[in-house]
Amino acid sequence: MLKVMSSPQKPPDSIHNPLDQHGSWDAVYRDMRPDDLPWNAGGPDEDLVRLVESGAIPVGRAIDLGTGPGHDAVCLAKAGFKVLAVDIAPSAIELAKTNAKSAGLGVAIDFRVEDVLRLSSPASTATFVNDRGCFHELAAKDRETYVRRICDVLVPGGHLFLRTFSEKEPPGPGPHRFTKGELEDLFSAKFHFMEFKDGVYDGPQTPKPKTYVCLLQKKAAEVRSARKAG
Ligand SMILES: C[S@@+](CC[C@H](N)C(=O)[O-])C[C@H]1O[C@@H](n2cnc3c(N)ncnc32)[C@H](O)[C@@H]1O
Repeated sequence: MLKVMSSPQKPPDSIHNPLDQHGSWDAVYRDMRPDDLPWNAGGPDEDLVRLVESGAIPVGRAIDLGTGPGHDAVCLAKAGFKVLAVDIAPSAIELAKTNAKSAGLGVAIDFRVEDVLRLSSPASTATFVNDRGCFHELAAKDRETYVRRICDVLVPGGHLFLRTFSEKEPPGPGPHRFTKGELEDLFSAKFHFMEFKDGVYDGPQTPKPKTYVCLLQKKAAEVRSARKAG
């Protein structure tokens, strides 16, 4: 008699790991229900809401990197920012457009399918770049390219608001857990750290993954080199 082998069970924390399970970002958003996306909090990131409401960031031109369901892009548009929201997955951009339309912001946000490593935005055009969970998904070899590109699109004194998985999240599947030192090594040449604190990644997961929340400001030296280049 033939014995039918059952497929191996997925580890319980595979919720961190939908990219590996589905094979591509586009497939993740095509195959999963939006409410099941581990990063989908159903609304904007609370740290972003606090930052915007604090008035510490001047209202201007924002780019939301790896926008996913688009909640942060909606939050920024509602606060008066002119928002470009990009994602590598066309299916994510469709979801984000649907969510923006539901929020009454159907045409206010410029949604584009783009790779953050090859942003089409000209140099010195964004005052604020928002990244909740995109940078930590990149391959290690691409991290320096990301830092250069984001520095390039920011205006002098522009800010990057970065949320990544942190070393305080137990090891396992899913995004890279950054140490404080790794983030400082990657960003310190081009950015000042204005804030560096612990956070959590809100969404359907329990316990909530531990993050670092970093507010970075483009350094004056970068201002000078951008001017020369421009
Ligand atoms: C963990 S999800 C976070 C989504 C969203 N920022 C949020 O907080 O709900 C990471 C997102 O980054 C997108 N992404 C991954 N690599 C990318 C790349 N190289 N360029 C643009 N988007 C990318 C994925 O498609 C996905 O939507």
